[in-house]
Amino acid sequence: MKSPVKVLFDEHEIIQSAIGIAKEAEILIAKDGIIYENTVRKLISFFREYADQYHHFKEEQILFPEMSKKNELLEDGVLKEMFENHSDFRSMIKSIEIFLDSKDYKEAQQQLNTYTETLLDHIAVENEEVFQMAEALFDDAELEKIYFRFEDCDRELGESNKVNLVNQLKKTQNSF
Ligand SMILES: [Fe+2]
Ligand SMILES: [Fe+2]
Repeated sequence: MKSPVKVLFDEHEIIQSAIGIAKEAEILIAKDGIIYENTVRKLISFFREYADQYHHFKEEQILFPEMSKKNELLEDGVLKEMFENHSDFRSMIKSIEIFLDSKDYKEAQQQLNTYTETLLDHIAVENEEVFQMAEALFDDAELEKIYFRFEDCDRELGESNKVNLVNQLKKTQNSF
């Protein structure tokens, strides 16, 4: 069966690998500031495009609204928290960028660490609570429908661009 939950799980794994790189980036500050800055800018692009545009978008526009339709109580509960996290992530990414612009790499890394730790917690709540709920709320036909809407979403944003983003991430990982 085509599972939309599996799609999101798999995307979480890719995002977690970017978080691993973000943590390792700290060693570059002492080595070479320019390489550090370039690496973090690449990570920012990845988080903005892959994590936010491809991944959070599917949750916000498709999965969470469908879950709320099934159970209204979810809207003010865990799903509201997930929406708020997504919005906080956007602000956090902006603040990392501001510190990079002012070449304050130490503070940029501190903000990046806060971002990645919060994102890891967010992923854990989704993996362990939200996605389990989704699987319990929907029957197979409904899950398949959501899966195809996810596919449409990726197609609109560009499937080859999605693959490129993952390849770029691997290159970033291998560059230090
Ligand atoms: Fe999320
Ligand atoms: Fe997620």
